[in-house]
Amino acid sequence: MTHIDLEYINNLDSRFRANFINSLTGYKSCNLIGTCSAKGEANLAIFSSLMHIGSSPALLGFVLRPLTVRRDTFENIKQTGLFTVNQVASDFLERAHQTAAKYPLEDSEFKAVGLNEQYLDGFKAPYVAESQIKIGCSYKNHYLLEENGCILVIGAVEHIYFPDHIQHTDGFLELDKINTMAAMGQDGYALPKFLGRLSYARPESKPHFIKNGA
Ligand SMILES: Cc1cc2nc3c(=O)[nH]c(=O)nc-3n(C[C@H](O)[C@H](O)[C@H](O)COP(=O)(O)O)c2cc1C
Repeated sequence: MTHIDLEYINNLDSRFRANFINSLTGYKSCNLIGTCSAKGEANLAIFSSLMHIGSSPALLGFVLRPLTVRRDTFENIKQTGLFTVNQVASDFLERAHQTAAKYPLEDSEFKAVGLNEQYLDGFKAPYVAESQIKIGCSYKNHYLLEENGCILVIGAVEHIYFPDHIQHTDGFLELDKINTMAAMGQDGYALPKFLGRLSYARPESKPHFIKNGA
């Protein structure tokens, strides 16, 4: 097994280090964040740092790279207070990946990559029509991570759209049924294989597979 230490890591080529360190902690979520500017210009970008923050209240967060260049998603969220989170599936993966390209401010990534804007139930931020799980969020707060200049953005979940057939009776969503992608590193993608759900972990019992939440 290879062992390296901090000194070695610090001396790595920066691209190599980014690829390497970014894949260390395993599979990540793979979502598109949809926003629009105060003028109504739509924007879309892929993010692999979307994370569950809490379910009561329902909150999620994502990590934004340092504000050393224009960051349209963040600028739009500050202007409108709204964003959508749209799960990436295998059938539109390439188009989702392409939203990472730095298009001019006035160009909509929706048009540039060939994904469709969708507006639902009066919510002013654009959803991705192709996405099967869509979440409408309002901005709650952001925190500067002093260690590296990244920003943790926190949003409150206001709307959720999902296909009925993927939900178990206890609320769980079986994401493999709609080919939800996972992200690896900065540019790798995987279609995870669902192995099942395990019983609630207790000191006195061994875990066993449960069906449909029962
Ligand atoms: C797979 C993948 C995951 C990404 N995840 C993030 C992320 O979590 N945070 C981030 O700031 N940028 C991330 N990016 C880069 C953004 O997609 C890219 O900077 C994009 O241009 C941002 O668009 P915006 O300026 O419209 O906000 C990721 C790119 C790829 C390809």
